[in-house]
Amino acid sequence: MLKKADTSAIWAIVASLVLFFIGGLMTTVVPPMVDKSWGQPFANADKSKGPTGHLRRLNGLELAGRAVYVREGCWYCHTQQIRTLLADTKRYGWKGVDAPISTPDEFVYDSPHMFGTKRTGPDLARIGGRYDTQWHRTHFRNPRDLVKGSIMPAFPWLFTNKVDLTGYFAEADVIAQKAAATKDPALVEQAALAADLKAKLGPQAANLTEFDAMVAYLQTLGRAKDWREANDYEK
Ligand code: HEC
Repeated sequence: MLKKADTSAIWAIVASLVLFFIGGLMTTVVPPMVDKSWGQPFANADKSKGPTGHLRRLNGLELAGRAVYVREGCWYCHTQQIRTLLADTKRYGWKGVDAPISTPDEFVYDSPHMFGTKRTGPDLARIGGRYDTQWHRTHFRNPRDLVKGSIMPAFPWLFTNKVDLTGYFAEADVIAQKAAATKDPALVEQAALAADLKAKLGPQAANLTEFDAMVAYLQTLGRAKDWREANDYEK
């Protein structure tokens, strides 16, 4: 019967549509039937703690760092996604613990996302907690001081450009009032984040640079997974 497709255009079209249909079924309908994990909610899903249970919004300082990350084009050279490949989970793991594969829930507040497409430098999805502030300071001043032959550019202006959070804290005051009135969980979380940050920074809040913001942002990456102790710094 399939031989007819050699000579008849109609048969060729029908046969190719049938094959295409089978291919479609095998790649879309069959996999979730075989692998039940597709239909399950995320392991860390907990409505009362936000969309993932672990993920939190970024505070003003971290958001400022993220803006610098976007502006400086860090994403030209760095991705933020651990793929389902051994090469990724081993390479970006930590002390023998494999890095967890990136899942959609991690990116709920990441807009626009920073997945990136090209790895001129290593992936940064699990960089949070890997190095301490001093390491980053040296690295941003001159990557060659730490990694011989590194082609990452130096970013010395991060240390002189100031970050002003006055606007953020003023807005946070309004959000806190709204949160008290409406009990909206999103607003309550944002108000709490701002209050925490204010308490943590103290008088230092007036003296922040883009470097402080950048490190604050980098240290958040990968923390939603809770796969390593929070202060497990190497250096
Ligand atoms: C021209 C490409 C390029 C750009 C742009 C770039 N990097 Fe890199 N980055 C690299 C390379 C290559 C490495 C690996 C060598 C090294 O550690 O210096 C690296 C390493 C790193 C590391 C250490 C990663 C690890 O796992 O050890 C961090 C953190 C980092 N970059 C952050 C940034 C940030 C933040 C920016 C933007 C301000 C940035 N990079 C911009 C190429 C780049």
